[in-house]
Amino acid sequence: MKILVTGGAGFIASHVADTYLQDEHEVVIVDNLSMGKLENIPAGSRFVNLDINSDEFVQFVLDERFDAINHHAAHMELRVSVDKPVHDAAVNIIGSLRLLEAARKSDVQHVILASSTAVLGEFVQIPATEDHPVRPIAPYGVSKRAMELYAEYERIVHGLSVSILRYSNVYGPRQNPNGESGVIAIFLEKFLQGAIPTIHGDGNQERDYLHVNDIACANRAALMTKAQGIFHVCGDSSASVNEIVELLRSALGTDLQVKHGPAKAGDPARTRGSHAAFTELTNWRPRTLLNDGIRDTAEWFRART
Ligand SMILES: NC(=O)c1ccc[n+]([C@@H]2O[C@H](COP(=O)([O-])OP(=O)(O)OC[C@H]3O[C@@H](n4cnc5c(N)ncnc54)[C@H](O)[C@@H]3O)[C@@H](O)[C@H]2O)c1
Repeated sequence: MKILVTGGAGFIASHVADTYLQDEHEVVIVDNLSMGKLENIPAGSRFVNLDINSDEFVQFVLDERFDAINHHAAHMELRVSVDKPVHDAAVNIIGSLRLLEAARKSDVQHVILASSTAVLGEFVQIPATEDHPVRPIAPYGVSKRAMELYAEYERIVHGLSVSILRYSNVYGPRQNPNGESGVIAIFLEKFLQGAIPTIHGDGNQERDYLHVNDIACANRAALMTKAQGIFHVCGDSSASVNEIVELLRSALGTDLQVKHGPAKAGDPARTRGSHAAFTELTNWRPRTLLNDGIRDTAEWFRART
């Protein structure tokens, strides 16, 4: 298949592109390099520097006639979305809508969109299934929800084949350690620089974590099965920030120091999604144990410092 991967110079989509290349698909990457890096773009793919929120991008999709589109390009810094909601909406809502319209007009066979469990807001059910209330509490979650609604409109009214994958906390090689989320990448970078990272609050807050290789396999499964609708793609179990620090200490083999700062406002005590619906349909399940995934990620960060 000829597949467009947007955001493929970034963390997650570069791994998705790797997987599609392994499966011998033709992969074209579109990224504007606002956050992505050229070095992340897999060999064997074709790279085109475009902004998804542009007329040129729409024309490009119409001209190239892709068989499938995998959409990961996004503005994804939650706190920046609070300061700059218009920028967040321009990329995540209007950019995604342009992509969806161009996909329909060019008769794409299947579209996969990266969404987030941030659309849920406060978790009132653990693990959260797809019928969990959707009440986003930051502009990032609002924009991702708007993208989902436009995609569902295209799917239900116009028959576009769409999988929407809501990820929880993804970690692994190539994650940007300078972002505000991604505790594993941020702490690894600090530890390897000899700096002392800050745990916000007591460190007992629990999240489910998913290794990026598992995410890439979920994108392969979504393409193969053309799973229709919204799915939670999450880890099997959760870990506290304190437990993550212990695993990082063991992976790096040293007794690393941390300090505690004030808890972040609105930081929930516990979040975890359920991947049962996606597993039932596609047979996908997370394979990477947190311990192994953290070792693999630590090795990658160590090799680049
Ligand atoms: N990292 C996570 O834990 C996580 C969790 C849930 C959902 N997601 C979603 O997964 C996707 C990928 O996230 P990531 O962690 O790999 O982020 P990332 O920042 O590494 O990748 C996003 C890529 O999109 C590109 N991009 C941004 N705006 C663009 C634009 N207007 N036009 C073209 N390219 C543009 C960036 O340059 C970057 O390479 C995003 O849609 C994000 O919302 C990520």
